[in-house]
Amino acid sequence: MSKVLYIKANIKAEGESRSFKVADAFIEEYKKNNPNDEIVTLDLYKENIDFLRPEDLGKLFGPKDENSKNNPILKYAYEFAEADKYVIAAPMWNLSIPAILKAYIDYVSVSGITFKYTAEGPVGLLNGKKAVHIVARGGEYGDAPYEMGDKYLRTILAFFGIQDIDTIAIENLDIMGADVEGKVKEGIEKATNAAKRF
Ligand SMILES: Cc1cc2nc3c(=O)[nH]c(=O)nc-3n(C[C@H](O)[C@H](O)[C@H](O)COP(=O)(O)O)c2cc1C
Repeated sequence: MSKVLYIKANIKAEGESRSFKVADAFIEEYKKNNPNDEIVTLDLYKENIDFLRPEDLGKLFGPKDENSKNNPILKYAYEFAEADKYVIAAPMWNLSIPAILKAYIDYVSVSGITFKYTAEGPVGLLNGKKAVHIVARGGEYGDAPYEMGDKYLRTILAFFGIQDIDTIAIENLDIMGADVEGKVKEGIEKATNAAKRF
């Protein structure tokens, strides 16, 4: 049985986010194919995610004990490390990911939990796990150099040891006259197919 962490990062009301429509379809199809797997949904705007404060650094970098799992910040890193698969749903914001998702990654990037330092440099601790990034964008980027959200996620996930990463992007949603419904439908089809193999 696998544990899937469904990480959602969007301020829009339920039912309005195009990223979430595609990601929810992914999750639904995944559930159908893997009824015994556990899906944990983490809606970042409903969590106490904040920018790191000076007093948080000691927790992140200091020694850990049995109580660390209950720490309001460290609990996210432990939860992340315990998952087997990650579904990350977020719109493109200013060429990248929403700040709350970056703030969450700052909680999750903890030495000894998601990666460790060695004499040869840092090494990821989450090898063999897989992730999918589901993103809606107003314009068209593909893998253009100024697209920095998917690239960042792929890089930080690889830093944690996660190499198997898929991206499902729906683009050009804010272009005048765009067939938004059609594009979302196309995204849902792609997501449904990808979920069967995830
Ligand atoms: C704060 C903010 C910043 C955005 N920045 C970009 C951007 O840099 N490039 C882009 O193509 N679209 C940008 N958009 C548009 C969204 O990516 C687009 O509308 C997307 O479909 C939103 O997905 P959602 O429906 O899941 O929220 C931005 C939207 C917001 C609200």
